[in-house]
Amino acid sequence: MGNVIKKLSIGLVVGGALFGIAKWQEFPFVFQMVFFAQAMLGAAVFMLLDAPAVKTMSGGKSAIAIVMFYIVLCTVFVAGASMWPQFDPEEEKGKIVKILERERKASEQGKAEELIARAKALDEQVKALEVRLRELGAGHVVTKEPVTDAPPPVTSKGAGDFMKAGEEQWQLHECFNCHKLKGEGGKKRGPELDNIGSYLTVDEIKQKILDPKSFMAEGFEKEWEKGRMPDKFREVMDDNEVTALASWLNSFKNTSVNTPKPIKKK
Ligand code: HEC
Repeated sequence: MGNVIKKLSIGLVVGGALFGIAKWQEFPFVFQMVFFAQAMLGAAVFMLLDAPAVKTMSGGKSAIAIVMFYIVLCTVFVAGASMWPQFDPEEEKGKIVKILERERKASEQGKAEELIARAKALDEQVKALEVRLRELGAGHVVTKEPVTDAPPPVTSKGAGDFMKAGEEQWQLHECFNCHKLKGEGGKKRGPELDNIGSYLTVDEIKQKILDPKSFMAEGFEKEWEKGRMPDKFREVMDDNEVTALASWLNSFKNTSVNTPKPIKKK
């Protein structure tokens, strides 16, 4: 009896400690209980080891005893297991699909909105052109004027949009997690990029993003080894997006910031 109490109390102490640690580590409540139950199960096994030996049986009696033992064991396990919360893999899959579906819709909607905005902008440009044509007296203008006159507003507006798209890529792919720019972001994993435009052309920056080993910042072996630049951007960005991002970065030529010199490796 004294032995049982001793083992039970050890079980309770260990179980309580596990429960506490699990709670401190912010495990869900179910897991805290599982840890506690594990300790109690252990205590029970140790108690059983001390139980007095059963009288030796033989013949049919022993066969029945073995079968009974298995039935009891199976019942305990099945009953015990069904007491814990059940996870249906199909249901969990359903939840994941729902989350992904929402994101997919959001991005599709985003794209649709962008297209509508672009269409509207184009429509306005066409209208403006029509007005100009009328002012100029459409008859003789149609032959040459629109051709030379139309592009400038389109491209100048396009360039602004393009830069904005570049900045969006910077935010979207979280380059700021490692790189400081305009005094924002960083965490010192990668170099500050405010002066990158003085060193690299748009094409070279593109190359660096698509293949991070193509250029390495001076001193990268000591300083930035741990925060190594990821090699995944070529998979998650299309050529237009990389070009926009590189063009935007190329516009940063602030020589007062100490951007390390990139060294060509490939
Ligand atoms: C996990 C951290 C990390 C992320 C995220 C990251 N980089 Fe880097 N990047 C680095 C490190 C570290 C270096 C310096 C070593 C090297 O050149 O590879 C670097 C170097 C660079 C350089 C060269 C800088 C120089 O002075 O030579 C450019 C340009 C650059 N990164 C652009 C980007 C862009 C654009 C993104 C987002 C698409 C990005 N990085 C995302 C870590 C990162």
